[in-house]
Amino acid sequence: MLPGRPAKGRAGPTATVEDLLRYGYFDDEQREYVIDRPDTPLPWINYLGTDAYFGIVSNTAGGYSFYRDAKLRRLTRYRYNNAPLDVGGRYVYVRDDATGDYWSPSWQPTPERELDGYECRHGLSYTKIGSARNGIRAETLYFAPLGETLEVWRVRVTNERAESAEVSLFSAIEFCLWDAQDDSTNFQRNYSIGQVEVVDGVIYHKTEYRERRDHFAYFACSEPLAGFDTQRESFLGAYRGWDRPAVVEAGAAKDSVAHGWQPVGSHHVRLALAPGETREVIFVLGYAENPKDDKFDPPGSQTVNKTRVRPVIERWLRSETVEKGYADLRAYWDGLLGGLRVTTPDGDTDRMVNIWNAYQCLVTFNMSRSASGYESGIGRGMGFRDSNQDLLGFVHILPERARERILDIAATQKADGGAYHQYQPLTKRGNNDIGDGFNDDPLWLILGVAAYLKETGDLAFLDEPVPFDNQPGSEAPLYEHLRRSLRYTLDRLGPHGLPLIGRADWNDCLNLNCFSDTPGEPFQTTENASGGVAESVFIAGLFVLAAKELAGIAALLGQDGEEVVYRAAAEKMAGTVTEHGWDGAWFRRAYDFHGNVIGSGENDEGQIFIEPQGMCVLGGVGLEDGLAARALDSVAERLATPHGIVLQQPAYSGYRIELGEISSYPPGYKENAGIFCHTNPWIMIAETMVGNGDRAFDYYRRLNPSARETISEVHRCEPYVYAQMIAGKDAPTHGEAKNSWLTGTAAWNFVAVTQWILGIRPDFGGLRIDPVLPGGWPGFEAVRSFRGATYEISVRGTGRVTHLLVDGERVEGNLIPPAASGAVVRVEAVATA
Ligand code: BGC
Ligand code: NOJ
Repeated sequence: MLPGRPAKGRAGPTATVEDLLRYGYFDDEQREYVIDRPDTPLPWINYLGTDAYFGIVSNTAGGYSFYRDAKLRRLTRYRYNNAPLDVGGRYVYVRDDATGDYWSPSWQPTPERELDGYECRHGLSYTKIGSARNGIRAETLYFAPLGETLEVWRVRVTNERAESAEVSLFSAIEFCLWDAQDDSTNFQRNYSIGQVEVVDGVIYHKTEYRERRDHFAYFACSEPLAGFDTQRESFLGAYRGWDRPAVVEAGAAKDSVAHGWQPVGSHHVRLALAPGETREVIFVLGYAENPKDDKFDPPGSQTVNKTRVRPVIERWLRSETVEKGYADLRAYWDGLLGGLRVTTPDGDTDRMVNIWNAYQCLVTFNMSRSASGYESGIGRGMGFRDSNQDLLGFVHILPERARERILDIAATQKADGGAYHQYQPLTKRGNNDIGDGFNDDPLWLILGVAAYLKETGDLAFLDEPVPFDNQPGSEAPLYEHLRRSLRYTLDRLGPHGLPLIGRADWNDCLNLNCFSDTPGEPFQTTENASGGVAESVFIAGLFVLAAKELAGIAALLGQDGEEVVYRAAAEKMAGTVTEHGWDGAWFRRAYDFHGNVIGSGENDEGQIFIEPQGMCVLGGVGLEDGLAARALDSVAERLATPHGIVLQQPAYSGYRIELGEISSYPPGYKENAGIFCHTNPWIMIAETMVGNGDRAFDYYRRLNPSARETISEVHRCEPYVYAQMIAGKDAPTHGEAKNSWLTGTAAWNFVAVTQWILGIRPDFGGLRIDPVLPGGWPGFEAVRSFRGATYEISVRGTGRVTHLLVDGERVEGNLIPPAASGAVVRVEAVATA
């Protein structure tokens, strides 16, 4: 097959124009995205692993693996920002031993070799890539089994010829010397430290095991080997790339043993295939640890003790184990996704809600912002605000993990209520390099906890003792942490009575206390002016929302006095927003260091920003006096584009030292008037709050990746997951997405569509059914698990729901009180226009 020509599924006499505009198609039944030409505009990736062992894998088998920490325990090497993109992967080569012809069934790293019927199926935590050439078909299934610290490649090779065939199979990976940052910089040391062992056909990578590491990697094969290689230069040949390894070309491994340089793992297997015959070859790549005092066998030697790992390897090289491991993985996902299923008139909505958006929320939870095609795995830790928001998208699926996560986050809060902006996943300690002072951070904790309580009703959670800054002895009930979060804002108000912004609020790039004129200086942590009065209207809106949530929590606890105080604080801040944060037709964004307004008609650029329009309305500001609806009209008039809603307008045309990083981006990208997708669902939710289902759903569809599939040429990122950013209307590449996968966009879109448009919304007192649908929908059906019961929900009509029939009984309003655990409850909601 030639790239550019779809193989199957979309081609043929019935193909439509739309079919030909895509690079694949959704197989909803299998919950897979099927890519049928390898030359996607960008590598389209997927994730392996669900717990401790993880990997990313692209549609052409590029990617890498790591154990727990993508920076410190990287198993395999990957080259970001290479040409071509996506170099380094889990490669397999097939060689026709009669002719010497060889190729990789995943297209890369041998893109010059034509393939027939290339197909990549990205599924939930697994990927299958296959193709054929000259009558030899090969397909590899990649997955990391539940509860193990390894990954399996199951390769099936079929001889589709009428005569028998002799083929060779080569596996190929390049080991990373564990610390991915050091690995890509410290060559003077690293070229001398690589060590391997090859025993019984298993390649053990043991660099630094001789000294302070107690872990090693292994790469094993189910078949007897014709040979192996572990030194890259021997395998590839000097000055040759992965596209034409010397060993594969020659059809004979060199049994090379790496001493320093670049350790790799490659097995050579010869297969004699009768016509029509299929052979299965299993490769297992894994991570193992030994106790410090039992590292070597025999003790005192330099040989890795393999007694613990050998049985694991043996088990996973068996076909039955692999079959079962794959079935278990699929069953695991069936279970996770079973908790919410919707059937609406819109297929793109169903597909995202039922499969891909939920999947993305869980991946984002696991990865935070560490490893993707855009996050190199060596950068940021876990964000305080990011992690609190990521929860919103999966708390209904894995509430116990949300609970755990909240406790980790809350333990990085400081005693004054402030929060470390990031913490390290391995140590769970706050990150001192970046510190605190992002003044929105603490408020997100209230939203995260509120979401958990609404989902579970687990009030005892609020009593859970949690330290401040991880200091033993400083423990206070979680509820006290929430109090301090709110207090933190109230202790830091500026001249207009609005919250001081600190280093930045949600918009990390609006740096109003940083006046940076030195290249490379970090915008977020540089503060070279003092005494500023920069205030954030966004934090004010977030405060109103958080104070109301905390009031709701206080009410649950019977703390009526506190409830009144929080409601009054919310009310007061809402008044301040109306007084100093309203610009006449929209909410202002901020006041700068000197007290000058930002996000106002008075400004020449940056007159209107999306964030305060969303967050103030979410807090309920302006719902009664019409300001909310007016602000949303301004969004529609000034910020909405066919590709989504841009962050602000007009874009900043040049650098403004008083604003910081936002103006560092060329117009239309990232925070400088890009479509920063995370913010769009706030507007969708706000639109539902003013009763505008048509606009809410329209905005939803503009971003929905599945609905954008037919413009893949423009969108360029994966059509099955959200991206952080789509270039705005000021950019020459308007509509082009970047930074797919790890973004708060996943959780917020999930919340917007499921809880506000479809209106199935957990609340403190039960499950609310409050849809705000687009006109013309006859209704929809849904099944939702909630606090141990299953609700079969049927919504008829498009108006607001005024009463429900719960198992046939009329309930006024739209709140279903929680049913007994295990109950199956039939709910009918009749919406009246
Ligand atoms: C990006 C922001 C991000 C920040 C993290 C900036 O360069 O534009 O989106 O939050 O880096 O430090
Ligand atoms: C990405 C960061 O992870 C997030 O915390 C921030 O809110 C957005 N960028 C906007 O700057």
